[in-house]
Amino acid sequence: PEQVIVTSGTQQGLYMAGRVLLSRGDPVWAEDPAYPGLTAVLDDLGLSTHRIPVDAQGMNVERGLELCPQARAAFVTPSHQYPIGMPLSMARRNALIAWADQHRAWIVEDDYDSELRYAGHPFPSMQGLRPSRVIYLGTFSKVLFPSLRLGYVIAPAPLAEAFAGARAILDRHSPTSEQHVLAAYMKEGYLEAHIRRIRGLYAERRAILLSALERALPEGCCIEPSDQGMHILLWLPEGTDDVQLAARALSAGIAVRAISPMYAGQPARPGLMLGFGGFLQDELQAAVGELVRLLRLCERRTSEHMPP
Ligand SMILES: Cc1ncc(COP(=O)(O)O)c(C=O)c1O
Repeated sequence: PEQVIVTSGTQQGLYMAGRVLLSRGDPVWAEDPAYPGLTAVLDDLGLSTHRIPVDAQGMNVERGLELCPQARAAFVTPSHQYPIGMPLSMARRNALIAWADQHRAWIVEDDYDSELRYAGHPFPSMQGLRPSRVIYLGTFSKVLFPSLRLGYVIAPAPLAEAFAGARAILDRHSPTSEQHVLAAYMKEGYLEAHIRRIRGLYAERRAILLSALERALPEGCCIEPSDQGMHILLWLPEGTDDVQLAARALSAGIAVRAISPMYAGQPARPGLMLGFGGFLQDELQAAVGELVRLLRLCERRTSEHMPP
């Protein structure tokens, strides 16, 4: 308990990690593609960010070692790479820890949705593997709701006081009334029961979305397999303008997020993040129908503009 610092969510935990562990200009690793809320923090703190490509095993640590072995910290989403969705393999977890040990660097583990796992056994957290080098960030945004604004940092014991100090400088502490309610909710077993219930519910919604997509997907689109969280990733045919497609979808009442802007270095692949947590069967099916219609429209426009 003395290593747990309550935050207003992972966003604040990322910012605090940057303030406590790093100084302006320090080199750091971030995944490519990455969560825009993270890259905004790294830019804001004036850090020198090296974007490390992800592949089927998650962050390519070997590439990080080539690009910038002296980085002071690595920011990763090991249990469910954001936005693509693969977990960081055990070999890569070990390689990342070996690098952090050797260079006395830090690993910041953004574990935003590992409670929502639908199949298979999860890998052990990075924090569990090397508590002395890992700053773990947890949140209640996914399992409860994001406007609650409650999350937590688990800091290595020698850093706990520094993190608590950084938290106090920002806005002293999160509202205690909400913390008391949540603590009682956890203590009385409701949170666990709630997670069990939504895991079943979201697994159903995920299956509905997947089957609606599989039935209707135009050629060149594919779904990235992932069995965790509240979204799936739909890859689009090369050359598709995913930003424009997301804007068109929004005008039609469907909120999806474009993937290509989340890339920095490697060629950006177009895709859309499709959330399924908050929608009923009919809503999901209707949204897929509309999305496919927009995709076909977009395809037609692209081919009309292509030279013969
Ligand atoms: C990868 C990732 N990290 C961090 C966050 C921020 O979460 P919070 O609401 O706890 O600040 C999110 C929210 O969607 C996320 O997807």
